[in-house]
Amino acid sequence: MANLSRRQILLGGGALIGAGMLPGYGLYSPALAKEMERVDYIIRMATNENPWGPSRVALQAMADSMKLTNQYGGDRRGLVSVVAGINEMPDDHVAVSTGSGEILRAAGRLVRMENGSVVCADPTYHDLIRYAERAGSKIIRVPVDADTKHVDLTAMHNAIRKDTRCVYLANPNNPIPSIIEKNALRDFALEVSKERMVFIDEAYFEFVDNDDYETMMDLVRNGHQNIIIARTASKIHGLAGMRVGFGFAHPDMIQRINGAKTGALNVLGIAAAKASYLDNSFQEFSIRTNRESLNIVEGMLDEHGVRYVKSNGNFTFFETGRDVAELQQEFMAENIMVGRAFPPMTDWLRVSMAKPAEMRYFVQAYKKILG
Ligand SMILES: Cc1ncc(COP(=O)(O)O)c(C=O)c1O
Repeated sequence: MANLSRRQILLGGGALIGAGMLPGYGLYSPALAKEMERVDYIIRMATNENPWGPSRVALQAMADSMKLTNQYGGDRRGLVSVVAGINEMPDDHVAVSTGSGEILRAAGRLVRMENGSVVCADPTYHDLIRYAERAGSKIIRVPVDADTKHVDLTAMHNAIRKDTRCVYLANPNNPIPSIIEKNALRDFALEVSKERMVFIDEAYFEFVDNDDYETMMDLVRNGHQNIIIARTASKIHGLAGMRVGFGFAHPDMIQRINGAKTGALNVLGIAAAKASYLDNSFQEFSIRTNRESLNIVEGMLDEHGVRYVKSNGNFTFFETGRDVAELQQEFMAENIMVGRAFPPMTDWLRVSMAKPAEMRYFVQAYKKILG
């Protein structure tokens, strides 16, 4: 296959070109693999972004709003209405924030204000936990199952203390792209939320294609008071740099969360997100190409007999037997930026999905470095 230049890659960027139109897409196939030349730019596989986005409609919306950036705020209420409508709930059940990270930190702040502890899986996404910990809260980390690496709900239930004010669950989890089985999660959330907040972070929900998975949004819709769901425009919508996220909860909880937030959205982010949430074709394209990329990498991992957790997100996580800090440097020498180490699983590597053609290049680099 020809050298992958940025120009060639950009030909597909945001243009909704069918993935099959470029050579080398689809399932990983050793028979088809040919030597690829070194790419002339750095491929971002470190932070679970959307390699294609923002979508054209989001870009257009931002361009149209540029002249309004002398104004404070933007159509925040309009954005809330769009997202509330998509999720079939009243507007007062939705908080918007500067990335879902702000909702996570606001929840962490509420925990601290109540002198409470947080129970979470280990490893999991850091934002809520790190914030609460730095503010002085006790964090009770519950190791994932030693064998499957899945979140261990029973152990988490057992770890809850009287002072636990929040149980944080990322579903799918990150850096491990596992999910929590839907019935077990529902029972857990209903039971545990009687006494404390259950925070379910669904940042990667759009990518999941798994019969065992369900969003817990209906629990919020049905009026359960202590359950918060977070979603983000950073992943499937490709708007990580615009910082737009959402919290869904009972209006009383939304008020408390809003009271603990400190950020303010900007005009461009609001316009981009509003347009993007109404653009299903880009989301479908992102899901389809993400699946192609995962097939390429997981096919290669299967071929090499590497231990990994089947992905329910836009990233993979596999065992390397090596120090990840060293691997980061070795992949960077191939112009690939991979994930950092995630204690305590410091010899497992997280690799975010880039475009399918780029993942074929990653496979080649993997073979050179780890094969
Ligand atoms: C599980 C999870 N939640 C939340 C976030 C935060 O995303 P943002 O603040 O961009 O919405 C991330 C980002 O990687 C994540 O992986």
